Amino acid sequence: MLLEGFAVEDFQRDLIGWFEKEQRDLPWRKDNDPYKVWVSEIMLQQTKVDTVIPYFNKFIEQFPTLEALAEADEEEVMKAWEGLGYYSRIRNLHAAVKEVKEQYGGKIPDNPEQFSKLKGVGPYTTGAVLSIAYGIPEPAVDGNVMRVLSRIFLVWDDISKTGTRKLFEAIVRNIISKENPSYFNQALMELGALICVPRNPACLLCPVQAHCRAFHEGVQAELPVKTKKANVKQVAIAVAVLKDEHGKVLIHKRDGTGLLANLWEFPNCEVVHSQENPERQLEKFLKEEYGTTVRIGNSFTALEHVFSHLVWKITVYDGKIIGDVAETEQLKLVDEQEIGLYAFPVSHQRIWKEYKKTDG
Ligand code: ADE
Repeated sequence: MLLEGFAVEDFQRDLIGWFEKEQRDLPWRKDNDPYKVWVSEIMLQQTKVDTVIPYFNKFIEQFPTLEALAEADEEEVMKAWEGLGYYSRIRNLHAAVKEVKEQYGGKIPDNPEQFSKLKGVGPYTTGAVLSIAYGIPEPAVDGNVMRVLSRIFLVWDDISKTGTRKLFEAIVRNIISKENPSYFNQALMELGALICVPRNPACLLCPVQAHCRAFHEGVQAELPVKTKKANVKQVAIAVAVLKDEHGKVLIHKRDGTGLLANLWEFPNCEVVHSQENPERQLEKFLKEEYGTTVRIGNSFTALEHVFSHLVWKITVYDGKIIGDVAETEQLKLVDEQEIGLYAFPVSHQRIWKEYKKTDG
C-alpha cells in the first residue's frame, strides 16, 4: 500500500513550514477573496505565473467583484483576456459567475458538489478554490502536483491517463492537512514550481526530501511517466488584411463555438492543396462566404499559431476590397484606430503589427 510507512504528520509539517517561509509574493495571495482565487486559478491553468500576474492585476482592477464581471459586456471581457489563450476558459468563467450571481445571490458556493457543477469548473479548480478560499480539504491535483507526488510516492502510472489523476486525488485525501488545506495544496503547487521541477529538480534544497521515495532510490529524473502526444496536425491557413477605398479594414468575428470562439480575426480560409493558388482560394472564399469581391495582393509575412492539438501554418496577404461590403454583426469594416478595441488572438495581433510595418 502506497501510504504504508509514510509519516503523514511530519510530511505536513515539513511541507507547510517550508511554504510559510518560502512562498512567492503573488497578487492572488494578498487575500482569500473566493472570486479572486477563482480568477487566478482559471488564469493559471495552461499559463505560467509570470504571464498571469499582469493580466490578473488588470482584470481585477477592471472587474473587482464577481458582480462586476457578471454584469460586464462579453466583448469587454474577451478583450481583457486577449493574449492569454485558451479562450473557452473566460467564456466559461463569465457564464459561471453569472450563474453564481443568479442562483447563489453572488456567493460562490463552498461545497464541492455545487461549485463543481459550474461551467469550466473541474476537480482541480474545485479543490484549489475551495481549499484556498474556504479551507475545505479537497485535493487540487494538476500536472505539477502529479509530478511532485509521483516522485514522493514512486508512482509509475502514466500521468496522461485520466485514471491516474484519481489515484493522486485519493492519495491527497489521505495526506492533506485538515488544519490548513489551503497551505497544503498551495505548498504542493509551489514545490512543483520552485523545487520539484520537470528537469533537474533541486532535491538538495527540498523540504520533503526525507519523505521522497524517488530521491531515496535516485530515480527522480525518470518520473513522472508521461506518454508523448502523437504528432500534432498541421493546417495551412491563408489570411488577408483587406482595405476598402476609404482605408477601412475588414474584420470578422468567429463563431461562438470551436477554436478561438467569439474572437475577431482578419478574414481567412484553410488552404487546400489543389491546383489553385492560395490567393485565388482566398478570393473565392471571400466571395462565397461574405459576398465580398477582393483582389489579393502580396504575401508579406508567415507565422504559426500553435494549439495543443494542431498548428496553423499561416501565410498573410494584403489586398483590396472591390465595391461594397454587406456588414453584419460578424463582419465589419473598421478604422485602423478602432482595431485595438476588438479582441484578437495573438497570431492576428502579430499579423496587424507586421502589416503596419509594411506601408499599411
Ligand atoms: N499554479 C496553479 N495555482 C497556483 C497558485 N495558486 N499559486 C501558484 N501557482 C499556481
